[in-house]
Amino acid sequence: MPQATRSTGPSLASSWAATRKAQFTVATEHVPVLFQQTLQALAIRPGGLYVDGTCGGGGHAAGILEASSPDGRLLALDADPAALERARARLEPFGARALLVHCSFAELGHEAREHGFGAVDGILLDLGLSSDQLADSARGFSFASAGLDMRFDSTQGQPASSLVNELDAKELADLL
Ligand SMILES: C[S@@+](CC[C@H](N)C(=O)[O-])C[C@H]1O[C@@H](n2cnc3c(N)ncnc32)[C@H](O)[C@@H]1O
Repeated sequence: MPQATRSTGPSLASSWAATRKAQFTVATEHVPVLFQQTLQALAIRPGGLYVDGTCGGGGHAAGILEASSPDGRLLALDADPAALERARARLEPFGARALLVHCSFAELGHEAREHGFGAVDGILLDLGLSSDQLADSARGFSFASAGLDMRFDSTQGQPASSLVNELDAKELADLL
């Protein structure tokens, strides 16, 4: 979670501008919320180790990597393989400084230790869903979609359409 509120000065503004420019060159429509405030709250420093538990299209992740240049590293997780691919394209310029893993942030502790991020300088969880997931009707996050899926990770579990049709009222209430 963002902890501190130290300003990182003019270099943050220029990295933010570079990242905003990059946002329009990759296949994502998601605009990271509170971008500058998030980077400032993380008090990012060069060489720092960071975890983004919900990297989505990689907007915040790119900002973290820019601000922690030249040698900061980021472990980026997401439950959605499609989001991770968008992030992979965006974070490609950072090379080995970005490590992307497909998993739930529930596994953050295990994955962090596994990949050498046992002690880190900051962790970001930007909870919710992204504009890209809402815009993809096949994902079924909107009632305007053809089918109701609503899974972040469609490689696991059942789509919401099955659950709604198969569970009884109590099971549905417990699930909700
Ligand atoms: C608001 S978006 C994050 C956007 C991101 N900060 C960016 O700058 O593009 C939330 C992301 O959380 C992911 N997500 C939701 N539940 C998750 C979970 N349990 N574990 C990991 N990621 C999850 C979604 O797939 C989505 O990509």
